This record gives sequence, C-alpha cells and structure tokens, in this order.
Amino acid sequence: MPLMEVDTSQALKRENATILPELASREDESYLDFVESLRSFVLDGMQFDQQLATRTAHLEDTSEPPAERLEKVREIARDMPVARVRDRLMRSQQEMKWRRIVSSLDARRDIHLDRLKSAEGRGPARLELDPGFEPPEYANVHFHLQPDGYHKDPLAGFRYHYGTKVFFVGDNDKDQLHASLVNNHLPSPADGRVERILDLACSVGQSTTALKQRFPQADVTGIDHSEPMLRCAHHRAVELGIDVCFSQRLVENTGYDDNSFDMVFSFILFHEIPTRIIRETLAEVSRVLRPGGMFAVYDFMMASGMTPAQLYHRHFDSRHNGEAYGDDFCYTDFNGLLEEFGFVEAAPGKHLGTTQVWYATLPG
Ligand SMILES: C[S@@+](CC[C@H](N)C(=O)[O-])C[C@H]1O[C@@H](n2cnc3c(N)ncnc32)[C@H](O)[C@@H]1O
Repeated sequence: MPLMEVDTSQALKRENATILPELASREDESYLDFVESLRSFVLDGMQFDQQLATRTAHLEDTSEPPAERLEKVREIARDMPVARVRDRLMRSQQEMKWRRIVSSLDARRDIHLDRLKSAEGRGPARLELDPGFEPPEYANVHFHLQPDGYHKDPLAGFRYHYGTKVFFVGDNDKDQLHASLVNNHLPSPADGRVERILDLACSVGQSTTALKQRFPQADVTGIDHSEPMLRCAHHRAVELGIDVCFSQRLVENTGYDDNSFDMVFSFILFHEIPTRIIRETLAEVSRVLRPGGMFAVYDFMMASGMTPAQLYHRHFDSRHNGEAYGDDFCYTDFNGLLEEFGFVEAAPGKHLGTTQVWYATLPG
C-alpha cells in the first residue's frame, strides 16, 4: 500500500504519452511527478538564486577569472542556511528519482527486455551494434548519479529517458526540448544542402528522430558508445515509424569517410567527456564534416559568462551530481578549440537559458 493517498491526476494524463518508458504502476508515476515538482520547487520556489544574487551582486563583473569568483561565491553561500537545504534537496531528489525509476522498471524487467529484443531487426529504423565493442574507461562514470551509468544495465536507456523526463521538469515529456532545438535553433548550411546528418552521442535518439522529421530527405545517423542507449533509441524509432540509423561508435573515432556529412549535431555531449577526448572529437568532426557543412553544438555555458549563482550551481553539479568532466569543459575556451581545429563561425552563437550554442563550419 502507498504511504499516503496519491494524486494520480497527472499520471492519468500520461495515458496519451506513448513515447515515455512505461512504469509499473500509477503510484510510481505519481511519486515521480512529486519528485519532479520537488525539483521545480528547489530550482525556483525556494528563491535561493534570488537570495544568492542579492548577496553576490558585487561579483557580477565577468572580467574577474571565474575560478576566483566561484571561491568568493562559495564563501558567501557558506553563511546561508538556505544554501545547505537547497544542496541537500538537490542531491536527495536525484537519489529519490533514480531509486524509484530503477525499482519500477525492474518490477517488469522481463517485459522491457522483451520489448527491446522484439524491436531487433524491425524497421524502418536500423540498429548497428559492434559485437567486439568495449566502452572506453573514461565512460565508467555515474553521470547525474544514474545507477550503473549509461552502459552497464540493459535498461539504461529506459532509465535515462524517464530520468530526463523528471530532470527537464515538463520540457521532455513528449520530446519538446529536442524538437525545439532542431526546429527553432538549428540553421541549415549556407548552400542549403542537407543529405547526411550525424547526431553525436544520441543516447535514446530524441534529436535523431527530430532531425529526420525536419530533414525528411536526409540520411540521419545517431551514434553512441552505449548498447542499452542505442537499443532503446532503436526501439523508440521503430515505435514511431521513423527511418533513422543508430550505430555503436565513438564520437572521437567514428570510422566514417572524410567529408561525408553535411551536418553534425551535438546536444550536451562535450561536458561529459575529458578534455583529451573533446580535442579528439573536434578533430574527428573536422574530418567527417564537409567544407561548408554545419556543426551545431548545444552544451553547458562557459564559466566566463556565468552569473555568480550559475557558477555555484555548476560547481555543485560537478561535485555532487556526477558531472565528472563538467568543470573541465566550462573552464575551457571552447571557441578557441573550435578555431584550433579549423572551424569558423557559421552563425552567431547564443544562449538558451543556461545552454550555450555554437554554430561552426569549415571553410571551403
Ligand atoms: C548526456 S547524454 C547525451 C544526450 C543526448 N544527446 C540527448 O539528446 O539525450 C551523453 C551520451 O553520450 C554518450 N557518450 C559519451 N561519450 C561518448 C563517446 N566517446 N562516444 C560515443 N558516445 C558517447 C553516452 O553513452 C550518453 O548516451
């Protein structure tokens, strides 16, 4: 029996949302709706950012090195009890979320595994797995505290998909976030030619299918190192009837031909790989993207442009939310790296909330 009377009204609404992984019970859905609301309350309702902003207004000047500003912000936050409550709740809601998602999916584990199995070989989507593939050592991280990480449990893709549904508080119930990036924030190459698109680190393939829907004439491939993610992506695309390819490959060593893609898309990949792999990946993209093609990167904002509150949250994420490489990315000069690997700006970049966007191309 549940501990309390549950409000299943939100869960009932979910009957139409066939794309999300199916949980075992209405109580599980309702509990995770509560966790999502708790997350929203911690992010907005506690007014922590406003209080911190008031006390750190003198640190808004972004000409001071961000690492030094961060130390001053942390010093100030140490005297704010609300900061400790906020930090504990941020950590706890992640732990609550994963515990319930894992137990709910495990309660019907065989059914979920059968689903993934039965999608094998079904179209229109294709799945290419590499039987000898060994995930790289640096990927053995429990990003965002996801139990078993991205590749060690066969249900990792379903876990991740429901986890991001809660994480994005309402923006990822029906792929809205990915659809918005692809439809509203992705310029085409200057010559308009889009025949082959590569989606780097596609996880469960939400941007891959959105790319195919926007560019129906194009051949769209999503790559990822994680077999469970790719199986989930393939299952999802089969259910949606969308003709895309998912392939098990490394972003830093794709094995594709030189100049073979008109567009390379990357959503929240670069902050999850070590700096050495960022460099190798940029070298690889500059090899497989054709001159004049579009390389669109959506990722964490650079620390140099962050407000004091953003610096505080990013630091918290690195230390307490499994973002092992997050600081390395944010404190690097991504513009400088793009330039070093031969990219030039294709369109002015922008910020979408705390996401920074880069549009790069290769000169002809
Ligand atoms: C935060 S998720 C990316 C999110 C994804 N683009 C989306 O829209 O949901 C990170 C993904 O990158 C994959 N990944 C990390 N390093 C990789 C690498 N070197 N090669 C291929 N995939 C990688 C992980 O398996 C995981 O699915």
